[in-house]
Amino acid sequence: MHGGNAPADTGAIRTPITMANSYELPEDPSTIDWSGTDRLFYTRNTGANQLALQEKLAALEHGEDAVVLASGVAALHAVFFTHVRAGDHVVVSDSTYEATWKLWSSLLPRKYGIEATFVDVTDLDAVRAALRPTTRLVITETIANPTTKVADISALAEIAHAGGALLLVDSTFTPPPLYRPLVDGADLVAHSLTKYINGHGDAMGGAVIGRRELIDPIKAEAMVDVGGVISPFNAWLIARGSITLPLRLAQHQSTAIHLAQLLENDERIAYVAYPGLQSHPQHGLAAGQFGGRGFGAMMAFAVDGDPDTQNRFVSHLKVITSAVSLGHDESLIVHVGTDGPRVAAYPAEFRRWGHLRFSVGLEDPADLAADLRAALDATFA
Ligand SMILES: Cc1ncc(COP(=O)(O)O)c(C=O)c1O
Repeated sequence: MHGGNAPADTGAIRTPITMANSYELPEDPSTIDWSGTDRLFYTRNTGANQLALQEKLAALEHGEDAVVLASGVAALHAVFFTHVRAGDHVVVSDSTYEATWKLWSSLLPRKYGIEATFVDVTDLDAVRAALRPTTRLVITETIANPTTKVADISALAEIAHAGGALLLVDSTFTPPPLYRPLVDGADLVAHSLTKYINGHGDAMGGAVIGRRELIDPIKAEAMVDVGGVISPFNAWLIARGSITLPLRLAQHQSTAIHLAQLLENDERIAYVAYPGLQSHPQHGLAAGQFGGRGFGAMMAFAVDGDPDTQNRFVSHLKVITSAVSLGHDESLIVHVGTDGPRVAAYPAEFRRWGHLRFSVGLEDPADLAADLRAALDATFA
């Protein structure tokens, strides 16, 4: 709560929004390192609200330092751009957010000659076997978007380090205090701040947190030189939203387990993928790794029917909104069908029915349960 909150000169007890591109220079500007990121002189190098948010996020993730950027994808790309170079190799989870997959399946190999191997990160032997002497990064999500596959972070850290590689964990689905990948040996943790950390669906941002020696070059190369900087207003909104993260997360999670069980027990539902359910293949791993603090609030499921049936079900929902994104106060659902390049890597049930990615929000759990039941009744009437 207190991290990064520096009272203003006015006596106000909150960090104010500083909507300024530039800060006054010292009498002798030659003392300034124009590529530096510590001193306030230009907002692409750093700004008061970026500094405040970075301090808060480093504290939240138990990391030395953080860099904040314009979006989650900008943050992920910043790691790749800074820490991987032509001729290197990376190992990437076969189940990740679409943009990560796109960057590694085409863009970065095609443009920069970096090789990527996609592996099932729950098969630790396969991860070990995929490593090469040139492997620079192992990249995974803690709970994967959208399959909810759970990665064993300490095991992956050990494998990556034995092979001389770094482990980058996208922990967007498992923000603190639910989980802190750095504590389990990850070298870098990335977040789409757009999701749970902001939590209110009104600002985009991304962050990378880790040891200073890894974060400093990201600031210098990806922020100052490439320029994916966050706006001071968005940084302020995200810092403000993050204050209630532990409270929101507790509510998101308790509603999620309730709804996952409700859906799983309804015969009109084809499957539910949620790590909190006994039926989830990595339920045991998730329970141990997250130390009983929960299982997140993201799930995927399908109603028993064709793509039109999924769409009809969604159109009957009145409280849950059909929209992309996740981790907002409002519950959001998105129907993803059985076509498209990503689908081959999905579990069999996702390939058969498609999936509804469901971000459980903060509405009254009884309203959400009633909404799901009513939409099922209307779909199968
Ligand atoms: C796991 C994960 N990582 C990264 C991103 C990208 O975040 P942003 O949309 O803020 O760029 C998303 C977006 O949904 C995500 O789910």
